[in-house]
Amino acid sequence: MKKVLSGIQPSGKLTLGNYIGAIKNFVTLQNDYACNFMVVDLHAITVPQEPAALTEQSEAVAALYLAAGIDPNKANVYLQSHVMQHAQLGWLLTTLTSMGELERMTQFKDKSAGKESVGAGLFVYPALMAADILVYNADLVPVGEDQKQHLELARDLAGRFNHRYGDYFTIPEPYIPEVGARIMSLDDASKKMSKSNPNPGSYIALLDEPDVIRKKISRATTDSGREVKFDPENKPEVSNLITIYSQCSGLSIEEVEKRYEGQMYGPFKKDLAEAVVSVIEPLQQRYREIRESGELRQILRQGAERASETAEKTLQDVQRLMGFVVK
Ligand code: AMP
Ligand code: TRP
Repeated sequence: MKKVLSGIQPSGKLTLGNYIGAIKNFVTLQNDYACNFMVVDLHAITVPQEPAALTEQSEAVAALYLAAGIDPNKANVYLQSHVMQHAQLGWLLTTLTSMGELERMTQFKDKSAGKESVGAGLFVYPALMAADILVYNADLVPVGEDQKQHLELARDLAGRFNHRYGDYFTIPEPYIPEVGARIMSLDDASKKMSKSNPNPGSYIALLDEPDVIRKKISRATTDSGREVKFDPENKPEVSNLITIYSQCSGLSIEEVEKRYEGQMYGPFKKDLAEAVVSVIEPLQQRYREIRESGELRQILRQGAERASETAEKTLQDVQRLMGFVVK
């Protein structure tokens, strides 16, 4: 069976962008692939984290995975830090990575821009992400558009290793959805919807109250025209809202356009809010049940145990190939 690996950082609240761009696809893929879905806590500490907040956010993201429909009997759900081989392989791959490659990463440029002091972890982070993927020899990596460049590096590192030490790693393929890979901000469609945006009106958090969601959507920026038409170039705001509608309702983009033909933005936005709430409300209900059940830690332990078996074997093989004295 082909293998899938992906991860989300436990920094701040997860948004509807994370759900549409990533988690929703995880749920579909679990039926046909051997899946590992991680909470990448080691990645989160590349920027300062309050310890208590890191604990809470890590558990929250894991619970959201499950609430969204990831079945821990089908897929391994765990914390990255519970499988130590990620960090170990990460170091080995860091030594194969050039400074120039890391300097070109747009996420690094964005996150470090204007900062007086930037942690070295933020810089080498893509090598750790490559290790996350390669430690399972994953075939497919479901991510949103913004991770494409990091994935390209993982592919390059796999190829470089194979060339230098012998054919070992599978070259992973990105799995980027055609629609919804880049959900934009509600207040500015030139920026992606992000949990780190200081304006909470710009994103829908998966744990926002339904009434807050309704309010945010009613205030979302639209262009001055009146047509509900999908035209990302000329109507980026409305096109983003149509994408969200389509993803939350199961209707195609054309079906959404047709439904609101000749109507103004008002009714469209109202229905959009209900479509989003109809996805998020049951998810929140399951989220609360999971958090209250006390089962989460056991599920994470079990996921990590299963994932470690493959990861340990890879690490030993890699060390042998590189010439380390094997224990
Ligand atoms: P992050 O929140 O940066 O850890 O991202 C976790 C996953 O969600 C990655 O696969 C991202 O590509 C995806 N993602 C984050 N924001 C968005 C967005 N606005 N639209 C689509 N996918 C996103
Ligand atoms: N870098 C990703 C992000 O910021 C998270 C991530 C870490 C990841 N390791 C991964 C995604 C491995 C896919 C596969 O969103």
